Amino acid sequence: MTDPDAIRARMRELEALIRHHDRLYYVEDAPAISDAEYDALVEELRRLEAAHPEWASPDSPLRRPGGAPRADLAPVRFGRPVLSLNNVYGLDELEEFWQRMADAVGGPPAFVGELKIDGLSVVIQYRGGELVQAATRGDGETGEDVTANVRTIRVVPARLNTPETWEVRGEVYLPRSQWARLNAERAREGQPPLANPRNAAAGSLRQLDPEVTRSRGLAAFFYEIRAAETLPRTQAETLERLAAAGLPVEPHWQRLADLEAARAFVAHWEEAREALDYDTDGLVFKLDDLEAARRIGETAKAPRYQVAYKFPAERAVSTVRAIRLSVGRTGAVTPTAELDPVRLAGTTVTRASLHNANILERLDVRVGDRVEVQKAGEIIPEVVRVLKEARTGTEIPFVYPDRCPECGTPLEVEGPTGLRYCPATLTCPAQRREALIHFGSRAAMDITGLGEKTVDLLLEADLVRDPADLYALDAAQLERLPRFGPVAARNLVRAIDASRRRPLSRLLVGLNIRHVGERAAKALADRFRSLDRLRAASIEDLAAIEGIGPVLADSVYRFFRHPAQAALIERLAAAGLNLVEGDAEPAGGPRPLAGQTVAVTGTLRRMSRQAVEALIARWGGRTVDSVSRRTTFVLVGDNPGSKLERARALGVPVWTEDEFWARMPPPD
Ligand code: IVH
Repeated sequence: MTDPDAIRARMRELEALIRHHDRLYYVEDAPAISDAEYDALVEELRRLEAAHPEWASPDSPLRRPGGAPRADLAPVRFGRPVLSLNNVYGLDELEEFWQRMADAVGGPPAFVGELKIDGLSVVIQYRGGELVQAATRGDGETGEDVTANVRTIRVVPARLNTPETWEVRGEVYLPRSQWARLNAERAREGQPPLANPRNAAAGSLRQLDPEVTRSRGLAAFFYEIRAAETLPRTQAETLERLAAAGLPVEPHWQRLADLEAARAFVAHWEEAREALDYDTDGLVFKLDDLEAARRIGETAKAPRYQVAYKFPAERAVSTVRAIRLSVGRTGAVTPTAELDPVRLAGTTVTRASLHNANILERLDVRVGDRVEVQKAGEIIPEVVRVLKEARTGTEIPFVYPDRCPECGTPLEVEGPTGLRYCPATLTCPAQRREALIHFGSRAAMDITGLGEKTVDLLLEADLVRDPADLYALDAAQLERLPRFGPVAARNLVRAIDASRRRPLSRLLVGLNIRHVGERAAKALADRFRSLDRLRAASIEDLAAIEGIGPVLADSVYRFFRHPAQAALIERLAAAGLNLVEGDAEPAGGPRPLAGQTVAVTGTLRRMSRQAVEALIARWGGRTVDSVSRRTTFVLVGDNPGSKLERARALGVPVWTEDEFWARMPPPD
């Protein structure tokens, strides 16, 4: 986004959205969006305010991080601001922080690592050991008085073990187990569930009736002594003194002598946190030496000597800037959303998959929409949801084109799956490179020397556009290519020439027909023996072949009816390619399995499964993966699988290995 008007408009929009959600969250205790979505809104506004401080509103919601205080809870003004933390994402940023601290203290710094509890920050005053006041953090300057409510939290002592006058800070949270219990109760009473433990904790603490707070089962952990007659000298001492005084301290904190220890702490808690009874949204790294910390100081918002290491969010929210279609090697046309950059699971994401037209339609993703994206495994993230409540009416619905965005060929819709694809598998520019590489591959026409690099060179020099062009190449043309000597040129021409004699089944693999792999190609070639007969086959003829299902039959039928494909086949024929099965392979020898279909199951003793399958093919038979009524017999080895049961159920003959070898000619 570069247009100033658009940026300003987006900033105003974000402010309004954040205010709206603050109100739902803090005042109505009825959040409408997830924490990740809220954080994404805040992060986007923060980014824009940092880039354009002159356009930030004086009353931007970011200046009141706690949201509006509840008017009916008495305000508490803090003597010293109750700060927040700066975030780091990933180990590199943690290392930078570590280095800054090392520079600041002039040597290797020791740290304390703590779990970052996802709850609600509270500040509590103890006078002579007695709890006298408790407040929420509010906006960091003014909080809300929640003393009566905090007194109902069992783990927060009304009196400390020692008569200290302290101001302490901690986090009130709702244990996951309590949250689950509460929601079960609410469900029984027909009330809507509380969105997550943090929202539930906030709602439970900010109640006018302390008895409601008591019934919720809140808990707390403490981590800071803000004021005391004698302040602790280290963070470790802080935690020890808090615990000794009877305040609950999260027990998994650790003193970290070096960065290695910090890395191990991160690695451990990234996984182990799931097993805890409370939500954590990161770790906090704190300089242990508090005297040094005081010297290093604070910004208006956060201390410089502590950081929150945020766990990578698995979901994030961003804005769709465009929807682009890409055409894959197999012609599948897949929509992708282009997004404003957003951090997700440790990386910055700018694109997310929309998978296919059906999903795009079901999600109703529009350009301008706020969407939730999620890491699906390790691959590119996917759009999982549109935030329809964030729509402004300016979003533009996406109209799926009916032609291939690369070559203009009308798209086809695959029957059962509804996927759209470009049928010009061999000529569409998006599919051309992969199609050529595939054509020359070992399972197809086996053209030695026609690897990825050569294909790229040929395409760059515009010497070939489709497989038929290969057969018109001569050595002189190839020699002119970069890194191509006379020997390489001659060898490639020879290899291309040799491929003219491959059997039909290999050519069918090479043609890159949708869903046709080696096995299907062999079945088709065996059944029809020539390309002419295959081309003339009806869908019913094709579907009648064992191992050829309706999707495959449909795909083969359509392939030959596509004008560009038909033209290409004419050119391949004119280039002298072998268009029949068998003739070009050395013939002769017995064919005891001619026309028979064999399924093999279990471990064979005499030779490998692969070798036996090769023999079956040489003897005229065909191996199939699954048993049907049309299977001639099943060859059974040791520990057979379900094929044996199926054969018995269907009455298909079963041959042991010994029976098989007794009936077949001796292999040479
Ligand atoms: S230290 C001066 N330690 O995280 C900063 N904060 O994102 C003092 N939090 O507002 C904060 N666990 O509410 C600290 N072990 C921990 C924490 C923790 C949770 C919260 C706290 C803070 C927020 C910052």
